[in-house]
Amino acid sequence: MNEDILQINSVKKSFVRNIIDVRGKEENERFFIIDDLDLQIPREKITALIGGNGAGKTTLFNIISGFMSPDSGDIIYQAENKQMSIIGLLPYKITRLGIGRMFQDDHIFHDMSVLDNMLLADADDFGEFPFISIIYNRKNKIIEQERIEKANSIFKELFGEDNPFWEKRDEPAKSLSYGQQRLLGLARLFMGNYDLVLLDEPTAGVNPQIINQILIIIRSMVEEKDVTVFLIEHNMKVVLDLADFCSFMSHGKITAFGTPDDVIGNDEVRRTYLGV
Ligand SMILES: Nc1ncnc2c1ncn2[C@@H]1O[C@H](COP(=O)(O)OP(=O)(O)OP(=O)(O)O)[C@@H](O)[C@H]1O
Ligand SMILES: [Mg+2]
Repeated sequence: MNEDILQINSVKKSFVRNIIDVRGKEENERFFIIDDLDLQIPREKITALIGGNGAGKTTLFNIISGFMSPDSGDIIYQAENKQMSIIGLLPYKITRLGIGRMFQDDHIFHDMSVLDNMLLADADDFGEFPFISIIYNRKNKIIEQERIEKANSIFKELFGEDNPFWEKRDEPAKSLSYGQQRLLGLARLFMGNYDLVLLDEPTAGVNPQIINQILIIIRSMVEEKDVTVFLIEHNMKVVLDLADFCSFMSHGKITAFGTPDDVIGNDEVRRTYLGV
């Protein structure tokens, strides 16, 4: 099996923006936010993606997970014995192939119960059709019971015997604290048996104690479940503590790749991103 789970080859993505030219006339200008980007994601490792605000990191995640199509280029995914291009596949199909995602802002469904947030996440069944998944599973009590047991055991494994997630399982997810909502977003990914998970700023805006818990959970994904993690992160301490590899995105390309120490020590990264 190839040692890289994902190969991103010459991906380009442009958007059109409205600008005012020197004569004060409005015109549309096409600009490339991703411009011939190449990157390989090593299997069963943690790879961080860093880069300035608006560099195009989330756009790259949108392309990998099928929410956006690139203008050109290819992404080859290899898990178990299957190797395929995932460009052009709908998000739910990409989910079913074993690629899970946690979003930058919305980690969970706030009005659904804590338990339903867990039950709708399942790569093997319904992927991006959470409501069909719930209706179907309500008809099938045995599968539903198994999935509830699985959610319970994930909560116990990650958060201990007496955890607030199981206690609050029938309450809306918005009743959890912000940090707990983030942890629930990560716990959901364990329901899916994914091979690769994309995490968009998992530690943003939470306190150091929760960051610690998040790091433990991400490490256990890789070490105990053989998952590959690709994460966007602005906190350099987290990158140094957690990641095996680090990639730096600038001007639409990956301009540095290596160990976190190497990339964070790189002159261009220090000058253009870290400002030191
Ligand atoms: N659908 C779209 N149409 C037009 N422009 C877009 C679209 N999506 C993203 N952009 C622009 O592309 C740029 C990159 O956005 P993106 O969200 O990928 O950045 P990012 O690296 O994730 O930044 P941050 O670190 O702030 O999250 C931004 O300037 C954004 O405004
Ligand atoms: Mg982003």
